[in-house]
Amino acid sequence: MKLHRIVPSLFTLSALLLPAAGMAASSSEESCRVCHKIDSKLVGPAFMDVAARYAKDKDAIAKLKRSMLQGSSGKWGAVAMPPNAGLSEAEAERFAHWIMSLNKPAAKK
Ligand code: HEC
Repeated sequence: MKLHRIVPSLFTLSALLLPAAGMAASSSEESCRVCHKIDSKLVGPAFMDVAARYAKDKDAIAKLKRSMLQGSSGKWGAVAMPPNAGLSEAEAERFAHWIMSLNKPAAKK
């Protein structure tokens, strides 16, 4: 009798836990937003300013990746960026490409 109650509730539980686990994997994107905005300075520089500064730097992707993974200080102001714990190499690469892609709309002007 009681089993009938337990089994559906286990399904409900896993349905709640699985999306939560999925979110954890991409939560670093959310964590960036605590300190960064696309077009204006927050704690850290605006991503558009970062893109503009590295526009002519062929090592931009590697440099931005390293800053995200190992932290960065003294390049933009008095505040340092701590290493982003939990950020994978692949994610850092994706963010770096995304940030540099912000240059494209401005280049059309
Ligand atoms: C605790 C606040 C904070 C968080 C969280 C944070 N940043 Fe930063 N970020 C900063 C600050 C402050 C700087 C400027 C550091 C400096 O002056 O060198 C910075 C600089 C940067 C730069 C420029 C680095 C360079 O070499 O010029 C990039 C790119 C960047 N952040 C991307 C990210 C991404 C992507 C994330 C999320 C994975 C993230 N940041 C999370 C505060 C933060």
